[in-house]
Amino acid sequence: MAICHHHQPSFTIPSSFPFTTNLTNKSQLHLSSSFRCNLSLTSTLEPEPVYTAVKSFAPATVANLGPGFDFLGCAVDGIGDYVTLKIDPQVHPGEVSISEITGTGNSANKLSKNPIWNCAGIAAISVMKMLNIRSVGLSLSLEKGLPLGSGLGSSAASAAAAAIAVNELFGGKLPALDLVLAGLESEAKVSGYHADNIAPAIMGGFVLVRSYDPLELIPLQFPADKNLYFVLVNPEFEAPTKKMRAALPKEITMSHHVWNSSQAGALVAAVLQGDLMGFGKALSSDKIVEPRRAPLIPGMDAVKKAALEAGAYGCTISGAGPTAVAVTDDEEKGREIGEKMVEAFMAEGNLKALAMVKKLDRVGARLVSSISR
Ligand code: HSE
Repeated sequence: MAICHHHQPSFTIPSSFPFTTNLTNKSQLHLSSSFRCNLSLTSTLEPEPVYTAVKSFAPATVANLGPGFDFLGCAVDGIGDYVTLKIDPQVHPGEVSISEITGTGNSANKLSKNPIWNCAGIAAISVMKMLNIRSVGLSLSLEKGLPLGSGLGSSAASAAAAAIAVNELFGGKLPALDLVLAGLESEAKVSGYHADNIAPAIMGGFVLVRSYDPLELIPLQFPADKNLYFVLVNPEFEAPTKKMRAALPKEITMSHHVWNSSQAGALVAAVLQGDLMGFGKALSSDKIVEPRRAPLIPGMDAVKKAALEAGAYGCTISGAGPTAVAVTDDEEKGREIGEKMVEAFMAEGNLKALAMVKKLDRVGARLVSSISR
């Protein structure tokens, strides 16, 4: 038996090619030729486990990025959820059991240990089905580093960590796209059918969800030599994604469509060019979703104003909120911006809040340790 600590992702994400799959017929994935060699989804052979236990991590994510509702998101470094997964002879073969949920704040006691109602459990079951696992049972322990309903992709981080843990335990047969599909199943059940958290949680970096059916994902490379810091300010307030989605307009005007589309295009261009000012400007520009959600988060408008006045390039709601996200290119400046945002949450929203300054996570979900058989 050997314990191994992993620092590298177990798969690499090609930088410039979209991932695609047809949701209605997963047995006929159509990927580019450069991906075909990775594909093992349709295999009916059950893979052997290569480890007896693995521990994985998946990062927090910022979804929407302003005008990119449900189609743009990115991963942030250093905060996220952990999953420990073991082969367990006590668990019925082909099944997963959740042995323990621990973690910060409200997370642990609010989550179900029934795997079919737990984000990590749903994703784990989905990956087990894709791999056709029938001979071993697994027990899963979830360590929440992210608060629930915070706008930091808490459910996606649990699902991503679970999906990669199952895949890696059995030799990493599935490509990232399948793990995103497994995570999407979980997201659909707990918060809504959107991939803008789960895709970056698995793949790292910035991801554009080009289409849902077939699912097509485009990783967007932010230049490695540019500094980008996210100021994440999380108030003591819960904004359940389902509720925040219910607040959205059913129809939008043509002028808002044109405006938001052009801003989303500008945001993608700014990410690829490493243009922080352009990125911030686009991040701040949503005229469709943010105006409906901001009034539901006490103090949000004032927080955005405070961030911009303190020198942030841009600011918006992270995912469905209530976390506010601002961007800057300097860590110290990020801390100052965070302080102003925290003050504004208290002054205008009467909410205590916590600020963090984080970098872009370019790796996504990964193993952190494993025990060989
Ligand atoms: N795009 C989703 C929403 C993200 O805004 O509802 C939720 O984290």
